[in-house]
This record gives sequence, C-alpha cells and structure tokens, in this order.
Amino acid sequence: MILALETSCDDTCAAVVTRAGRIRSNIISSQGVHSRFGGVVPEWASRHHLEQVNAIVDEALATAETSLDEIELIAVTQGPGLVGALLIGVATAKGLAAARRLPLAAVDHLQGHVAANYLGDEPFEPPFICLLASGGHTLLARVTDHAGYEQLGQTLDDAAGEAFDKGARLLGLGYPGGPALSKLATEGDPGAFKFPVASRLAGLDFSFAGLKTALLYKVRDLGPEETTRRAADLAASYEHAIVEALITRSERALAAESEPRLAIGGGVAANRLLRERALGLGVPVHVPARELCTDNAAMIGSAARWVEPRPYPDYLALDVYATRRTR
Ligand code: KG4
Ligand code: ZN
Repeated sequence: MILALETSCDDTCAAVVTRAGRIRSNIISSQGVHSRFGGVVPEWASRHHLEQVNAIVDEALATAETSLDEIELIAVTQGPGLVGALLIGVATAKGLAAARRLPLAAVDHLQGHVAANYLGDEPFEPPFICLLASGGHTLLARVTDHAGYEQLGQTLDDAAGEAFDKGARLLGLGYPGGPALSKLATEGDPGAFKFPVASRLAGLDFSFAGLKTALLYKVRDLGPEETTRRAADLAASYEHAIVEALITRSERALAAESEPRLAIGGGVAANRLLRERALGLGVPVHVPARELCTDNAAMIGSAARWVEPRPYPDYLALDVYATRRTR
C-alpha cells in the first residue's frame, strides 16, 4: 500500500491507495481561510498545512483501516505549487519514510491530475488526450503511457479556473468563484454578450487574460445597477467563452489522433457546461469523480505507481519546485 501526501496549494490531503489503484482512503482538508482575501495567501496556507498534516495522515490511515506497518511506499507532491506549502508535505513525507526506512516517490502535481484517470475499477488507459484545467494550470497533453505525458499546448497567461475566479470576483461572487459563477450562469443567456474566445490563437495554446479584461470593461460600461440586473447573462456569456476556448482546443488536439479519446481533469472539470460539451464531442470521454478532479492525494498515490522510488536515505536531500517542469 502507498501513503500519499499532497500540499501544493491550500488543501491538506493524504490518501492510502493500493498498487492496483484501489482507493482505501482519500482525506481532504480544505482550509477555507482564504475566501476573505479573495485568493490563497501562501503564508497562511503553509501554516495551516503544518497544523493539519499529521491529523490528516492519521485520518487517512485510520479510514483505510491500516497503519504505517502496512505501508510500503510514501508518495508526495514535489511541485509545482507554493514552495512553503510543498515543503510541509515533503518534510512530513521524508520524516514518515525515514522513520521506517521506507522508499519515497516524488510526484509531479500535474502528472497526479493525469493519473487520477488510472484509479478505480474502470481506469481510463492510455493513449488519450488530456485536458487539464485548474486554478493554477491549463494545458492539453497527449498521454501515451502511465509514466508521463507530452504537452501539446498550455495557457499563455491565466489558467481557466483563474479566469472563472476573476470573473466571479468582478460579478461580486466571492472566492473561489468558479462554482458560484457557473450556478448563476444556469439562469442566464450565453448569447447575451459576445466575449472573445481567443480563436485567433492558432495551435493548442490558450489565453484567458483578454476575456477577463473584456468582462471588466463590460461591467464598467453597464454600471453597478445594470451589472446586477444582467449578472446571470454576464455569467452565462463569460462561462460560454471559457468553455468554448477549452473545447475548441481539445477538438483540435483530438483531430490529430488516430484513436481520439479524451480525459478531462483539474477543478474546472467539475464545471457542468464543460462536462456536457465534452461528452457531446462524439469520442470516448472520461471524467474522474469530482473529488478526484480537484486537488487530492489519491491521484498522487496513483501517479507514484509509475515513479522510480528513491531509497532511504537518498530522498533526505529532496527539494521542491515551484514552477512546471517541461518534459
Ligand atoms: O484543481 P483545483 O481544485 O485546484 C488547483 O490546483 O487550482 O481547481 C480549483 C479551480 C478554481 O479556480 C475553481 O474556481 C475552479 O477550479 N472550479 C470551477 C468549478 N469548480 C471548481 N470552475 C468552474 N465551474 C465549476 N463548477
Ligand atoms: Zn491541481
């Protein structure tokens, strides 16, 4: 069994998964302390991880009805993410592993999101195209084996989740605003306002900064009263633009495949419209369960199955990384 830790952003997560990809436990402690700041405050995130992590590990072991005696491998997110937050997970993992002389697997967070597809009774096996859209990252990948992926395109500025959150903020919906904006959008007309979908951008890269600015100008033009009155139409049109940008690039990537299949992941994969549009593409589509799309440790444990484990004491010098590795 594998004990996995994930602390790259504001969720403190621990999970126990088996080598076969069965989830024995998947514990997530969302901090919820960042909403009043309108975003994640890195120092707060680190402190909360430090306070939470031991209890979350204990809970993951207890829920899995196991103990450290039965754990054969410790897995942990090494990056990308907030450095202070990552360090809490990595230091904890080192301590747990070293105390038992267990090997340690250092996992890439984005590979974790991809590997969420390999969990459960019906894993989605490569090859497939993977659309990953979260608050921190947005990219398209070609996945041909379990151990990695080839990046086909990425966002040149904001991530899709970030675009949702910033849009929600402009509409006064709080943080994180993606779910709230999406809920409001169900009452609006997606054709009411024309927002740019960055279709001029050739290839498989994304750009969401112009969209956010377009909403900002629209809100200014309308003024506070009219913005409130038309909030649902604004939300629906804005959501439509983000989802179309994600879907057109995914379609482009799929068109180049001899065996087109699509997996979507990351927090934005929880979006109702994106799911609906993806499922209508006419190719096999896999969307992991919602709790496996947003940040969690089960996906890190899953990815660890194809990572070369580091033996004791080699990993004691392991460092974290803040930004994405290009492979
Ligand atoms: O993967 P995730 O949990 O954390 C990161 O690694 O960033 O993604 C969180 C992001 C947030 O930006 C949130 O607003 C967005 O996913 N999100 C949504 C929905 N649920 C979460 N965006 C649109 N519609 C949703 N239903
Ligand atoms: Zn993530």
